[in-house]
Amino acid sequence: MAESLLLTPDASRAERYDEVLPQIEAVIAGEPNLVANLANIAAILREAFGFFWVGFYLKDGESDELVLGPFQGPLACTRIAWGRGVCGTAAQSGQTQLVADVHKFPGHIACSSASQSEVVIPLLSKGICQLVLDIDSDQLDDFSETDVEALEKMMKRLSAQHFAD
Ligand code: SME
Repeated sequence: MAESLLLTPDASRAERYDEVLPQIEAVIAGEPNLVANLANIAAILREAFGFFWVGFYLKDGESDELVLGPFQGPLACTRIAWGRGVCGTAAQSGQTQLVADVHKFPGHIACSSASQSEVVIPLLSKGICQLVLDIDSDQLDDFSETDVEALEKMMKRLSAQHFAD
């Protein structure tokens, strides 16, 4: 396994996803431990794109809560109620949330006042959300369909390795 990321300087975001996704696949392919893979994915996405906060929230057993998983960035909320905020909405609806301005999102949970825009991708197994990928930016309107498409593809790959359909 490569010990460091190969990143082309000045790549566009789409180009950066094209070079980073295969590297994520290579890192997680041989590792059966979910937490280890989530930790490396968070680190790779943060290093490759410089996002303000990248991490995962996981379904906490049978409770109606998400609990903080591996992440990179400042201190974050430990628990999020199912259906609350952007992450809770993604978990409850099973749908990706692309939020250009978090201050306009009803019930947004402000873990940090620096966070301005956000994308959250849920991973579903047997119709139930098992975890979400949450990426926060300190820029307004920082995410687009380019991010959604690439990140959903990455989450499908993760799901195929660790969860039943
Ligand atoms: N903003 C998120 C909470 C999690 S953090 O930003 C790390 C939300 O509303 O779901």
